[in-house]
Amino acid sequence: MILVTGGAGFIGSNFVLDWLAQSDESVINLDKLTYAGNLENLATLKDDPRHIFVRGDIGDASVVGKLLAEHRPRAVVNFAAESHVDRSIHGPEDFIQTNIVGTFHLLEAVRAYWQNLPSPAGGGGVGGEGATKESFRFLHVSTDEVYGSLSAQDPAFKETNRYEPNSPYSASKAASDHLVRAYHHTYGLPVLTTNCSNNYGPYHFPEKLIPLMIVNALAGKPLPVYGDGQQIRDWLYVKDHCSAIRCVLAKGKLGEVYNIGGWNEKANLDIVHTVCALLDELRSRADGKSYREQITFVTDRPGHDRRYAIDAHKIERELGWKPFETFESGIRKTVQWYLDNQDWVRNVQSGSYRQWMEKNYVGLAG
Ligand code: NAD
Ligand code: TYD
Repeated sequence: MILVTGGAGFIGSNFVLDWLAQSDESVINLDKLTYAGNLENLATLKDDPRHIFVRGDIGDASVVGKLLAEHRPRAVVNFAAESHVDRSIHGPEDFIQTNIVGTFHLLEAVRAYWQNLPSPAGGGGVGGEGATKESFRFLHVSTDEVYGSLSAQDPAFKETNRYEPNSPYSASKAASDHLVRAYHHTYGLPVLTTNCSNNYGPYHFPEKLIPLMIVNALAGKPLPVYGDGQQIRDWLYVKDHCSAIRCVLAKGKLGEVYNIGGWNEKANLDIVHTVCALLDELRSRADGKSYREQITFVTDRPGHDRRYAIDAHKIERELGWKPFETFESGIRKTVQWYLDNQDWVRNVQSGSYRQWMEKNYVGLAG
């Protein structure tokens, strides 16, 4: 049994689906179901007894404590977070609450549970089958954004790079990473941290670049490119991120940090052109023109980081992990998934989503 937090969000739901497709080990899924959490992502697990969903906050230590005591997981994988940079600019408080205070309470509950697990040397404790003090793991899922922004000539982020977060989102994730590190050094909590680059793939909420471009293109709306569109991100297909997390959970060295990336540095405008070209091929516009016609340059994001790039040599060298998808194969699968799942898109475009679009894209949200 493992406990996953934030397992109804984009990466968490992909992780839970992949986990149960590959193993019979059950998952307790603790998720607050914010605007970003969506049980429809997990619809195929509705009658699966291996998946136990609990609506709750990682910051609620009594809920977490009860779940740990009752189910006695051998690992906790922490995806739960506020994750959207633009939202963190408009309203940072939720990011501080969940990403920092929430992670702190989660760590406290996990520490109390872990300290009482049985140890082969000591015996006793409350651990269930498979959960021992030695084998237990707390895996914290984080982002490359904690390392700040690179110039065009800089080498890619290594695990040893300084933390230089620039947005309220990345600062809150950086703080959570530091807490996780401190719980290892101070209390010996067996932690692992992963810092991953930008993900894309199925179930990605359409406020983020790639799904937003697909959804707006199909709806005949503008494709809003911030600034000059030359900001660079390093894209990884979400299922490759999930396989990397499984690998770190199984083989990672305690207290270590692993950077995860896809070796796919691309400028935003190139991403948007690729999405347009795939849509032109797979679902051409009624007027025969390219979706590129819908590209609209808009005011840049304040403090916009220019470039992220991950050096993923450590996880490859030490744990043998490499991404499976190329960007070309992953983006084609992704565009096709959105074409095949338009009901899912319609269902996530709730009232609160429409308000967000009006706030972030003044004058553009049609
Ligand atoms: P997401 O916003 O799609 O999902 C977050 C999930 O956490 C949602 O289901 C939400 O309901 C839940 N949640 C939020 N606050 C909670 C709380 N207080 N208690 C319990 N659940 C809560 O995010 P995502 O893109 O799936 O990202 C997951 C994790 O991976 C985050 O920690 C993020 O920082 C990290 N990450 C994301 C990316 C990316 O490209 N999306 C890249 C690297 C790292
Ligand atoms: P995003 O998906 O928000 O991820 P992050 O900011 O965490 O990297 O954005 C990816 C890049 O796309 C980022 O440089 C901002 C840019 N972007 C746009 O140009 N237009 C948009 O409408 C959005 C949402 C993002």
